[in-house]
Amino acid sequence: MDILVQGGVLPDGTRADIAIAGDRIAEVAPVIDPAPGARIVDAGGCMISPPFVDPHFHMDATLSFGLPRVNQSGTLLEGIALWGELKPLLTPEAVRDRALAYCDWAVAQGLLAIRSHVDVCDPRLLAVEALLEVKQLVAPYLDLQLVAFPQDGLYRNGDITAQLLRALDMGVDVVGGIPHFERTMADGARSVTALCEIAAERGLMVDLHCDESDDPLSRHVETLAAETKHFGLGGRSAGSHLTSMHSMDNYYVSKLLPLMADAGLAAIANPLINITLQGRHDSYPKRRGMTRVKEMVAHGIRVAYGHDCVMDPWYSLGSGDMLEVASMGLHVAQMTSMTDIAHSFDMVTGEAAAILNLQGYGLKPGCIASLVVLEAGSKMEAIRLRAARRCVIAKGRVVATRPPATTSLDLPGRPDSVTFRHGPG
Ligand code: FE2
Repeated sequence: MDILVQGGVLPDGTRADIAIAGDRIAEVAPVIDPAPGARIVDAGGCMISPPFVDPHFHMDATLSFGLPRVNQSGTLLEGIALWGELKPLLTPEAVRDRALAYCDWAVAQGLLAIRSHVDVCDPRLLAVEALLEVKQLVAPYLDLQLVAFPQDGLYRNGDITAQLLRALDMGVDVVGGIPHFERTMADGARSVTALCEIAAERGLMVDLHCDESDDPLSRHVETLAAETKHFGLGGRSAGSHLTSMHSMDNYYVSKLLPLMADAGLAAIANPLINITLQGRHDSYPKRRGMTRVKEMVAHGIRVAYGHDCVMDPWYSLGSGDMLEVASMGLHVAQMTSMTDIAHSFDMVTGEAAAILNLQGYGLKPGCIASLVVLEAGSKMEAIRLRAARRCVIAKGRVVATRPPATTSLDLPGRPDSVTFRHGPG
């Protein structure tokens, strides 16, 4: 035993100590005696959770806020145009350094696995090279999974399939796409088929930006589900955003959801971003522009929440806090039952890990020893408080610690000063 996490509570509410040996969880039990020389991490009644997982992010753009200017309209399309202005100015060093800085933020928040899309439209593949380097640098403590993402469309400005394949050859993990941004619906559908075929041929996962639009007739998700089934990509295929589903006709959705479930197509919603980007052309009533999370979950479709952006051309805010993402998601999706709130926590942990097909994820003996001690007593309290991360362990090493957060109150009319501690109890 190298580390003993003592006196914690598991997400299911049971009391537990966790013994770690090397990079694996050795034992989980109500009480474990410390081995001589083991480092003791006092959980102090806090919840021990598997690490947060972000299934949808753009690490090549992160922390570039204000470069070369700020998105004035706040729309998706101005964001894409702004990214186009920034791209020629990028250097590999700047992309790498910003990405590494973000990974530090992530680790401090207990976010230890990220699926990041990386733009492959630049023929230099500069961002791909930079993020592959970052992937290697952070591998001892953070799993970075990269998606070959044709931000400007696979066919929109000439066929760039060869560039996408080159990125995959270089070591990018997942096939990406953006069918709703192609010039025509037919080109969009054609791109979905081609990308699924590439994923099937290479034995890779596929994750498309799909129907990130308020147009109820943007139905590429249907093609993605059908091709997922056709190419046997169930469990390895995800549709990201899927915001057009918010505006679709209910009868059509009643046919679509069983198809998605049957195909094993997962969904990734990005609540922080889509609540701000979508519905921008509406007056009132104004659509919220998030996909139908609750309905998909009810149909047995795996759904997770992604952060998508932090301080980039699309979104000026964010801090790598997946509890903020879960909180926004549950508010916008109106998932307020006790079951739904607990599931919202799972959507930024276990459900996201399953979409990424992460191996050895969890808190069982034999799992990779990655966990976070949260100053909360339950999943609901973790979301309510955006609980402080008291300790983060990554692959068997303590990588982040912070003292308990307390606030001292000195209130007129109250005899004694009050020390107020957020957290369990
Ligand atoms: Fe995205």
